[in-house]
Amino acid sequence: MSRRKIIAGNWKMNKTPSEAVALVNELKPLVANDEVDVVFCVPAISIIPCMEAAKGTNIKIGAENMYFEESGAFTGEIAPNMLTDVGVKYVVIGHSERREYFAETNITVNKKVKKAFEHSITPIVCCGESLEQREQGVTIDFIRQQIKIAFLDVTADQAKTAVIAYEPIWAIGTGKVATTEQAQEVCAAIRVCIGEIYDEATAQAIRIQYGGSVTAASAAELFAQPDIDGGLVGGASLKPDFGKIVNYK
Ligand code: 13P
Repeated sequence: MSRRKIIAGNWKMNKTPSEAVALVNELKPLVANDEVDVVFCVPAISIIPCMEAAKGTNIKIGAENMYFEESGAFTGEIAPNMLTDVGVKYVVIGHSERREYFAETNITVNKKVKKAFEHSITPIVCCGESLEQREQGVTIDFIRQQIKIAFLDVTADQAKTAVIAYEPIWAIGTGKVATTEQAQEVCAAIRVCIGEIYDEATAQAIRIQYGGSVTAASAAELFAQPDIDGGLVGGASLKPDFGKIVNYK
């Protein structure tokens, strides 16, 4: 089956709202490509102005995080219906930076994934090993555990629409992109894992991105791999280079 590619930028904690609008306007003509899904995941405070700026284009604005409760005394958090109210369709869940700096665990990731589906928001579920784990030879075991817990109590119909981002931690922001073989090997293993949890139809439907130092130079080869359905791009998504990544062919 051929899966539609999804190429997402993760802006992380960069750009003020006015800078964000300027960047959307700059990138708009460069990322025009109706053959792929293009998502800009931006800081929460910039979601609304970026939505306005992206109106009438192929760009979808996503969030970088979301809380797993509906509302209440959770100072500083963003509820799912706050995102859907302004038209957000995608949310990054369980990025390694959130796991490392904000103590997110596989369990909180699972709660957020389920909550996102309850609100018809597509989660971009992040997983990835550290350099130490890769050197210890436990990469696939570690990622299978992340995936199995992230998808606990998620139905096959929901999982079919999910996006998984495989981002080796040692490749994030380091300029050290995984080799095409390393990226394909893990993305294929993730698909096998989804097949075991659900069935072959779900494994074939789910989209799996690679992330970690993706640039215009590496995108084409990565995205041509049979199990890599696009990318989650950090640094290069803040530059005109993102246009080349979206138009990688
Ligand atoms: P870089 O592309 O800057 O390595 O970041 C990858 C990432 O963490 C995207 O979520």
